[in-house]
Amino acid sequence: MKIVGILGSPSATSRSAALLQHATASLRHVASSLHTISVRELPAEALLHAQFDHPLIRQALNEVNEAQVVLVSTPIYKAAYSGLLKSFLDLLPQDGLREKTVVPLATGGSIAHLLALDYALKPVLSALGARDILDPVFATDPQIPKHETEGYRLLPEVQERVARSLQTVIDRNDEFQRLEDAAREREALLSRLQAPQAGESTRWAPRDVRWST
Ligand SMILES: Cc1cc2nc3c(=O)[nH]c(=O)nc-3n(C[C@H](O)[C@H](O)[C@H](O)COP(=O)(O)O)c2cc1C
Repeated sequence: MKIVGILGSPSATSRSAALLQHATASLRHVASSLHTISVRELPAEALLHAQFDHPLIRQALNEVNEAQVVLVSTPIYKAAYSGLLKSFLDLLPQDGLREKTVVPLATGGSIAHLLALDYALKPVLSALGARDILDPVFATDPQIPKHETEGYRLLPEVQERVARSLQTVIDRNDEFQRLEDAAREREALLSRLQAPQAGESTRWAPRDVRWST
């Protein structure tokens, strides 16, 4: 399955990055492609001026478009998701998350803003068409302590919650694989129809098309 992670922290060393990194690492064995978009690394001017034709913005949007599973990780800022994350989500098309499985992840200074995921992040994901939103994982700063050599490390209780939320994705691997095969088959057929080989007829019969899902 094609997986993309979107990281909304402006910090170079970041807890929400550690959370996302742990989550994507635990999906590596089922991923046919795995990309992380760190919004802070995108060109700031292109992002703020909504330059859709900037190559790096186009590439990031394309990665989201192709993905079947999208993990969205953000620090809680002022009782909501980060503005940096929103600046990227605003570039997605109106239905940019439709038919994707979305996993919300967040870190916050205290448990007091746990509900920010429900009242702030989930509505915006849903406005982008996401209907399959898995259980969010929220971790407080003390649950992702500093590590001597590895930046930050998730406490086992957070690792367990991530594993529980992602189990649904892992269980659906066969289904995702079938959808990917069907999409590949469709693309191959369409390109054959658009550019027929020498001696090949441009006409096609219904039996050529198998819309397996
Ligand atoms: C500007 C700013 C605003 C914050 N606002 C909140 C908040 O409203 N609620 C909260 O629980 N934590 C808040 N925090 C704490 C961060 O959410 C928390 O430290 C988070 O783990 C940072 O994630 P990061 O390391 O990935 O950037 C805030 C931090 C900053 C810098």
